[in-house]
Amino acid sequence: MKKQAHINLFIASRGHHEASWRHPDSSPYALTDIEYYKGVTQKAEQGLFDSIFLADHLSVRGEVRRTARTWLEPITVLASLAVSTSRIGLIATASTTYTEPFNLARQFASLDHISNGRIGWNIVTSWLADAALNYGDTRQVSHSDRYERAEEFMTVVNGLWDSWADDAVIDDRNSGIYADYENINPIDHHGEFYDVRGPLNVPRSPQGRPVFVQAGSSETGRRFASRHAEAVFTAQMEKKTAQDFYKNIKSLVQSEGRDINQTLILPGLSPVIGSTESEAKKIARELDDLSDPEVGRERLSHRFGGVDLSHLSMDDPLSPEDFPDPETVQAARSRTEVIVGIVKREKPTLRQLLSKLATARGHFLFTGTPEQVADLIQDWLNDGVSDGINLMPPLLPHVLDIFVDEVVPILQKRGLFRTSYEGTTLRSHYGLVRPNKKKITNV
Ligand SMILES: Cc1cc2nc3c(=O)[nH]c(=O)nc-3n(C[C@H](O)[C@H](O)[C@H](O)COP(=O)(O)O)c2cc1C
Repeated sequence: MKKQAHINLFIASRGHHEASWRHPDSSPYALTDIEYYKGVTQKAEQGLFDSIFLADHLSVRGEVRRTARTWLEPITVLASLAVSTSRIGLIATASTTYTEPFNLARQFASLDHISNGRIGWNIVTSWLADAALNYGDTRQVSHSDRYERAEEFMTVVNGLWDSWADDAVIDDRNSGIYADYENINPIDHHGEFYDVRGPLNVPRSPQGRPVFVQAGSSETGRRFASRHAEAVFTAQMEKKTAQDFYKNIKSLVQSEGRDINQTLILPGLSPVIGSTESEAKKIARELDDLSDPEVGRERLSHRFGGVDLSHLSMDDPLSPEDFPDPETVQAARSRTEVIVGIVKREKPTLRQLLSKLATARGHFLFTGTPEQVADLIQDWLNDGVSDGINLMPPLLPHVLDIFVDEVVPILQKRGLFRTSYEGTTLRSHYGLVRPNKKKITNV
């Protein structure tokens, strides 16, 4: 049987292009209107996508004057989408640095119940430096400390989700027994960062626990992914680096003693699609003309942790020395590796670099017809690049509509994508095993 694509829709702003919010073909809804999120999620469900995904960043900066963001808190949005859709998986971002594990475990267990088993958690350590200021810290937690804390966080939340056996709720009106308390156990965790007694105060959910998604691609991030992730999102601008990443993650997963098919790799793909190549190029040009390079400069600075880039001229070729060494970056380390990689390879001017980053912030870019997009996905599946895609439409819902109406049927005709949902949970769409918890023995 042919390898089939898994497709996730990454919903951001009115599309991933920095200027999408201004384009006449982007959604007319306010970015705080739930109808917008419902509409695009229902369209993705009509297209039989595996899942949708919402990112989350924990501070706001001055760039908001000239660019729009996704504003609603993702866990809250998923609760609404869970009751306005029936099959598609729903993934929310939540931070291991700025959340209590007990809170997060009960929120995601509740969402998994509400959605009948369609929830995923994008595990982030929050790279944005000024997020710390909103949580009582004056300085950002360092890159390595964030991952160390995240490791203990995983031990705690996994313990909490496992603290109820699958069959602990008896709910027997005749005998008067509601729950088998022998099968609901405390976790008694005492670690460096957390002290949590447990058990969780929410019964075990349909998937046992949410599907674990991870999107950190630095060396430390990859190791974390190999231990925990069931799906990995990644930003890659070149086929070759994407192939290397795929091979590396699969081998790290194997070295952790895990089945490589239980960790899907879904690189971002941001296609501008038109019925003809020239129509696609026209949309790309319109978006570019609407962008403001100074917004890009500010965003770029924050990727590196707020470094001053104001002295760089827009039109002189850049060199890697214009940026801090990614190894020393405490913010979005792997993305700075991607950015410095472009500078090394292509020696762009700042204006050219910012134009590349404006479309999808360092993810794979493509401009072409539905047929050409399908060819690209087919090539990725067959040539060791990916297990599917994280679709990042530069313009929403315009590019999503074309993808669902025109790219999906081509993939289906080629046997590369499902023609109906077979299962009802996100685990079943992704082909992941459900962690069962039959009988807990008391410690
Ligand atoms: C598709 C994608 C989505 C991401 N979403 C978020 C997010 O919502 N919030 C966040 O703080 N970081 C997000 N990140 C960033 C990563 O989680 C990670 O923090 C970043 O890549 C830096 O870690 P690293 O140096 O290990 O790569 C995302 C990354 C990717 C590729």
